[in-house]
Amino acid sequence: DFSRYPEDCVFVFHDLSVFAVSSSGAQGEYAGLAAIKAYLNSKGESARTVCLIPKSAHGTNPASAQMAGMKVQVVEVDKDGNIDLAHLTALVDKHKANLAAMMVTYPSTFGVFEEKIRDVCELIHKNGGQVYLDGANMNAQVGLCRPGDYGSDVSHLNLHKTFCIPHGGGGPGMGPIGVKAHLAPFLPSHPVVPMYSVNASSSLGTISAAPWGSSAILPISWAYIKMMGSKGLAHATEVAILNANYMAKRLEGHYKVLYRGRKGFVAHEFILDVRPFKKTANIEAVDVAKRLQDYGFHAPTMSWPVAGTLMIEPTESEDKAEMDRYCDALLGIRQEIADIEEGRMDSRVNPLKMAPHSLACIASSTWDRPYSRELAAFPLPFIRPETKFWPSISRIDDIYGDQHLVCTCPPMEAYESPYEEKRASS
Ligand SMILES: *Cc1c(COP(=O)(O)O)cnc(C)c1O
Ligand SMILES: *[C@@H]1O[C@H](CO)[C@@H](O)[C@H](O)[C@H]1NC(C)=O
Repeated sequence: DFSRYPEDCVFVFHDLSVFAVSSSGAQGEYAGLAAIKAYLNSKGESARTVCLIPKSAHGTNPASAQMAGMKVQVVEVDKDGNIDLAHLTALVDKHKANLAAMMVTYPSTFGVFEEKIRDVCELIHKNGGQVYLDGANMNAQVGLCRPGDYGSDVSHLNLHKTFCIPHGGGGPGMGPIGVKAHLAPFLPSHPVVPMYSVNASSSLGTISAAPWGSSAILPISWAYIKMMGSKGLAHATEVAILNANYMAKRLEGHYKVLYRGRKGFVAHEFILDVRPFKKTANIEAVDVAKRLQDYGFHAPTMSWPVAGTLMIEPTESEDKAEMDRYCDALLGIRQEIADIEEGRMDSRVNPLKMAPHSLACIASSTWDRPYSRELAAFPLPFIRPETKFWPSISRIDDIYGDQHLVCTCPPMEAYESPYEEKRASS
């Protein structure tokens, strides 16, 4: 209940403030789209089933639309990473009789604030559709701007991204949705535990077996919001955007930053295009990602939202020294790529292709590589023996095993219980 703390809380949503709880961003998307569907059905517009989704969207968007019984139509993005308005207008025109919704992420997954966001929302509303604004990038908005203002009818918050719940290793998450008043009667309900604000006869039904999802982790977000206060949360947003722009600035000129806004800035994340190195040095994103382990870092998001690239989102959590080390590592790697490009390093056996280097590999009595062990394990002065984080294993075969499933096909006897075996032998 945000309204009980007007002094020190941020009202994330303007006129978008009725909440329902779900257990992940994806589940929030599903709940939100199901609410839209129930709303449209209640108006006698059950023929509206088309959901427009830009190419830049997170994979959960089309999956959720599909599960909510909608037909996905893909909207092109232009060369700057924005929604292609001409294509969007053509699609809306084609489907306007059946348009149910558009899902849009703001700022986009390409790390740019879409300048036409209001026009996009307006176009959808004018043609009878609803707007689902994917709130996963609220980290770039909290305290600065509000989805309800530029046209969202429903959004989710990834509490495990923006609001501090740790989610390493895959969960648990929380993805509450906020809706405008007209969608409130259609929010999820629960057959056992009544939802005080939801009308059971118009509700979309149940989406989560537990009435409030993974409610045990909600105090983390609550405490975070209370402790940060409205000033602190807005400051965190500003620092997240500043950090991304600082890193992008340090890396530009060495790497290509794929997308930027009109004024040359990125939002809270940016994409490094490493695809050209495939031609010039036989180096791909995976090689850079593996080599980062030798420098003591976890790789950033790889091959998403653009295949073959790296997407970096420092957030507000990293201090400047850590960001500088990360940039130094990426600049060191760029120098190693240059060594390959300019023939100083072999294009097949080099520190990037052979990365990561485990302690066993460095300590082995056979070392037949055309580069030194020191370069392999301690490529920059800040990587020291006392503090080095050693990769536990060298590279085997990347995704080969994921893409070539092998059936071990155990024989029936393997399932026999010892009791059965005993009986058989007696
Ligand atoms: C993370 C994310 C999602 C999905 O959220 P989950 O909690 O992982 O299900 C959806 N959209 C975007 C843009 C995201 O970054
Ligand atoms: C609940 O929903 C039903 C069906 O849509 C409607 O007839 C009824 O008036 C609603 N009740 C309230 C209190 O809004």
